[in-house]
Amino acid sequence: MEKTLILLKPCTVQRRLIGEVINRIERKGLRIVGLKMMQLDDAILNEHYAHLTERPFFPWLVSSMKSAPVVAMCVEGNSAVTVVRNIVGATNGRKAAPGTIRGDYSMSGQENIIHASDSIESAEIEMKRFFREGEIFEYPDPLHDFMYAPDGD
Ligand code: PPS
Repeated sequence: MEKTLILLKPCTVQRRLIGEVINRIERKGLRIVGLKMMQLDDAILNEHYAHLTERPFFPWLVSSMKSAPVVAMCVEGNSAVTVVRNIVGATNGRKAAPGTIRGDYSMSGQENIIHASDSIESAEIEMKRFFREGEIFEYPDPLHDFMYAPDGD
């Protein structure tokens, strides 16, 4: 089963939206297998956003991501990376479709509520970046057969 990495950004923590966003992720059928609050620093953000260092908004993005704790989550489900990206919506909240998390809660490209890994490869790297061994859990899923067909579809 696929896992992906989610960060609920400082804007989400400040706006008391943690519960609402987690509720949407859970009610879709994704399972939380890792969850913690973290204060990010320059070291982890420079690594996480290394592909964006040349962008003009990079200093603002880093500053915003350090302004309060984030909630880091690892969630699991069939095709979890794609499913999460779909329910998160387009990067800019003003352009994200209504019904998506960003489309419903954000007016911004920076203060856009949530980060979600964009590929299976990124998810593997990002889960290791934000979670230590022993912080991601495996536990039985008694609802599995109510969520998926026998072939996982
Ligand atoms: S981009 O522009 O194609 O690189 O966009 P994307 O890869 O989707 O965005 C990467 C992260 O950059 C943030 N972002 C911005 N921050 C501040 N200002 C502006 N204009 C801006 N545009 C994009 C965006 O929130 C993405 O953060 P994460 O944490 O990856 O979602």
